Amino acid sequence: MAVQAAPDGDRGRRKTRIAWHTTAGALVAGYLLAAAVVVAAHRVVPVPQWLALHLLGLGAATNAVVVWSRFFAQALLHARTGSERPAQLRLGLLNAGVIAVLAGVAGHAGLVAAAGAAVVVAVIIAHTASLLAMIRSSPLAGPLAVVAWYYLAAGAALAAGGTIGGLLAAGWVRSPRLAGALTLAHAQLNLLGWLGLALIGTQFMLWPMVLRTRMSDAAPRLARPVLVLTAGGLAVTTCALVCTPWLGGMRWVAAAGMAAYLAGTVISALPALSRMRVRPPRTAPAWGLLAGYAWLAIALAADTAGLAAGLRQADQLLGRLLIPVLGAGVIAQVLTAALTYLLPVTVGGGPTGNRRVTATLERAWRTRAVLGNAGVLALVTLPAGWPRVAAWAAILAGFGTFPGLAVAALTAGQARAIRRRHMPEGSPPDV
Ligand code: HEM
Repeated sequence: MAVQAAPDGDRGRRKTRIAWHTTAGALVAGYLLAAAVVVAAHRVVPVPQWLALHLLGLGAATNAVVVWSRFFAQALLHARTGSERPAQLRLGLLNAGVIAVLAGVAGHAGLVAAAGAAVVVAVIIAHTASLLAMIRSSPLAGPLAVVAWYYLAAGAALAAGGTIGGLLAAGWVRSPRLAGALTLAHAQLNLLGWLGLALIGTQFMLWPMVLRTRMSDAAPRLARPVLVLTAGGLAVTTCALVCTPWLGGMRWVAAAGMAAYLAGTVISALPALSRMRVRPPRTAPAWGLLAGYAWLAIALAADTAGLAAGLRQADQLLGRLLIPVLGAGVIAQVLTAALTYLLPVTVGGGPTGNRRVTATLERAWRTRAVLGNAGVLALVTLPAGWPRVAAWAAILAGFGTFPGLAVAALTAGQARAIRRRHMPEGSPPDV
């Protein structure tokens, strides 16, 4: 399946589209860079793990999901592209909210953080409503139109997870036991609901694109039951976690929900694995997506076991294993892979530009992939002390260098666009 980056013949709209995706790519790269700097600085300056995690998950990944879920939904639903103004306004407001959350929590200003969370949640509700309106007004939807429903479920998860985050940030939850249960529910909703459901839905169409092959016939058939298993499983886990302070035996219910989510994730990979037998992965986006998906399955299996063991064990596992694996192995790696594929398609401006952007983004990708994944493996297996410092250094060298390449590719593209604007009419194309 091919996604049209811009309609033919309409140069004005094409330029606007390129400028929009350049801004979005720069925003994502900026947050990724900030997260890498915070991780690199954390041994010198006492910055909390919370900040790096939220720069990555709330800053970089949330911007990416908001921009590209709309882009993919338009393609899958064959929706007519109207004015981008409301989407631009939402993106501006989203980032104001994100910055308020980051500054509020880091600066111990609970009310500022809570106000930021309210803005983020309101923007995501508006974004989700715009996708629902798109579904309703698109009678000619393609075979994978169900993927748009993954984005709706993801939006609902962030609305709930962000509200819980706002309550925790404001300090309005007094009971430590309830705060522990809500923190776990917040982490599951945001990591596996907002980001996980968006990833699982998108991969049904992204895989054929990165492998440059046709979509497996099984993909549209499996997408529906996978959505029921993953979104349903997550809803069961979250409700069970929230009930834990009052009801006994809830850990088994929470673990059962996560087991269903894991089953859905494994099933969702089957169409891609069958296509890989015909077209093995050879490029940076394909390997990044594959490795990210493998880490997701590992993290889900560990999460299921942790939840079955009890709230305290699940909480310990979250900090020790799930945050590093999901943060670096899944979020940073999949974002890097997806941007390596999407930026050339959306901002390249034609075959020559696409090749240029791809060449920059794929620089030394094999070395970076090995370093990043070896770092994640070392982080979860090696003891505290210098081995873990070395593991973080490998992760930074592997995934933390990507934002620099993205900024280089985007600024080179902008410089060429400015040069073209100043060229006399009829000049040969810039190749
Ligand atoms: C509206 C936006 C958000 C707000 C206000 C918020 C706020 C918070 C707060 C206050 C905590 C600390 C709870 C505690 O330990 O007392 C927390 C933890 C956490 N948040 Fe968020 N958050 C937001 C969005 C996100 C997103 C999008 C993600 C997805 C990556 C995320 C992932 C996590 C995780 C995994 C933890 C647990 C951290 C740990 O236990 O060390 N949050 N969040």
